[in-house]
Amino acid sequence: MKNDKDKIARFTPAERVNHWVLALTFILLALSGLVFFHPSFYFLNNLFGGGVWARILHPFIGIVMAISFAAMFFKFKGENVLTPGDREWLKHAREMFEGDDSHMPEAGKFNAGQKLLFWLLLLCMALLLLSGLIIWRRYFSNIFPVWMVRFASLLHAASGAGIIALIMGHIYLAIWTRESMGAMLYGYVRRAWARQHHPAWFRQVNGEEK
Ligand code: HEM
Repeated sequence: MKNDKDKIARFTPAERVNHWVLALTFILLALSGLVFFHPSFYFLNNLFGGGVWARILHPFIGIVMAISFAAMFFKFKGENVLTPGDREWLKHAREMFEGDDSHMPEAGKFNAGQKLLFWLLLLCMALLLLSGLIIWRRYFSNIFPVWMVRFASLLHAASGAGIIALIMGHIYLAIWTRESMGAMLYGYVRRAWARQHHPAWFRQVNGEEK
């Protein structure tokens, strides 16, 4: 992918395909997970061919999501290390939401909010995977004592609710930050967008000093 005088490459095709695999598996998992969460969501089982199929498919889709997240994690982890400037960014984030971004420290490729989301997603993903394997009745749950399976079910529901809240926030902010959806759909952003939202990254891409 090449930069030109108007636009800068932000995400490679592989990163974008993986992100949308992650998004699709997340939606399927949230919908099938809600089927088991509360009777008022049971009607969602119709999307999966019935309750039994929802139950069979859910853990396998979970494995695909975990692999996809692992790929994203290893690709993006270096760009998500929090710096002292990020703490300042978080301190002033409220002012930015109220329309005044004059005190915001310069963000790199990802801003402090995105970095925080990244690490919280990692936490939820790790808890979901671990607890999900323990409660996977077909293969594993008979290996573990009953108290552990019960505790894992609770943890699975809590981290599932947590990740749904995080992703709802992520989607809202992806829409709120105009043009950022284009970055994940087409791979490019306008130079002016990069300069406004991620100035340190913009200068780095242009080969200037940080
Ligand atoms: C379901 C609908 C989703 C939409 C509409 C969406 C949208 C986006 C967009 C527009 C970006 C680019 C932001 C930028 O250029 O700065 C992005 C980045 C990213 N997405 Fe998503 N996403 C979705 C689901 C997910 C899921 C399920 C995960 C992980 C479980 C995820 C994790 C990430 C991460 C880690 C990044 C990079 C940094 C960030 O913006 O936080 N996304 N997403």
